[in-house]
Amino acid sequence: MSTSIFGRTILCLGAAASFSFVSPVHGAGDVERGALASRACMACHSFSAGRHLTGPSLAGVWGRRAGSAADFSRYSDALKRSELVWNAQTLDAWLRNPAAVVPGNTMLFDGISQAGTRADLLAYLQAVSEGRVSPPDRRHPNLKLADASRQVAAVRYCGDAYRVVTADGKTSQWWEFNLRFKTDGSADGPSAGKPVIVGTGMQGDRAAIVFSRPEEWSAFIRRECP
Ligand code: HEC
Repeated sequence: MSTSIFGRTILCLGAAASFSFVSPVHGAGDVERGALASRACMACHSFSAGRHLTGPSLAGVWGRRAGSAADFSRYSDALKRSELVWNAQTLDAWLRNPAAVVPGNTMLFDGISQAGTRADLLAYLQAVSEGRVSPPDRRHPNLKLADASRQVAAVRYCGDAYRVVTADGKTSQWWEFNLRFKTDGSADGPSAGKPVIVGTGMQGDRAAIVFSRPEEWSAFIRRECP
């Protein structure tokens, strides 16, 4: 960004003068670089409102009290009790070393040592929160729309294997250790009683059957040999 040198000077002076107890903000970050850097967060966070993954949605995080995203139920007590409010200083410190800022938090992330990358991420987080950029919509495919080859009609267990019959009449076999059973109760999850099989492994030797609710598991999985 062409204006960043000027912005950087101003911010550094301001930061050094007023925030001696936390790491100073080293400059105005670049939103586009921040968007690229945010890929490091996407395994666990979405930037779309209300879409929680392992971690809470980061839409609207700027100015929010820590541990307060609506409908995210898995915050650690440590983060909820921290009484932090997310702003340039607290977010910079958190992204540098989350464990140091809130001991006992459950974000498994080592931190980012480069101040410039943190500044870029902050610029992006602020821009997303203020609605100036639209985050990528990284929704999982809606499992209610799965085609017949992925709709599970029956699961049979024999020896060390599961045989999975799909709605197109085909049967696939899986070593028991490589087939996972998951649930997705979100709007994108399967309909009740209509589990869906999804491939997970690079080599096609692993899969997961996603149910709407765990209560469906035992009704579906029958012990039966061919
Ligand atoms: C391995 C998963 C994981 C990764 C990667 C990750 N986070 Fe997190 N993040 C979490 C979890 C889980 C929490 C909730 C922590 C808690 O409750 O203690 C969290 C919490 C947060 C919070 C506090 C949100 C709130 O509502 O108070 C922020 C801000 C945050 N993460 C930013 C980021 C950013 C930015 C990145 C990428 C640079 C990132 N995280 C990478 C899992 C992750």
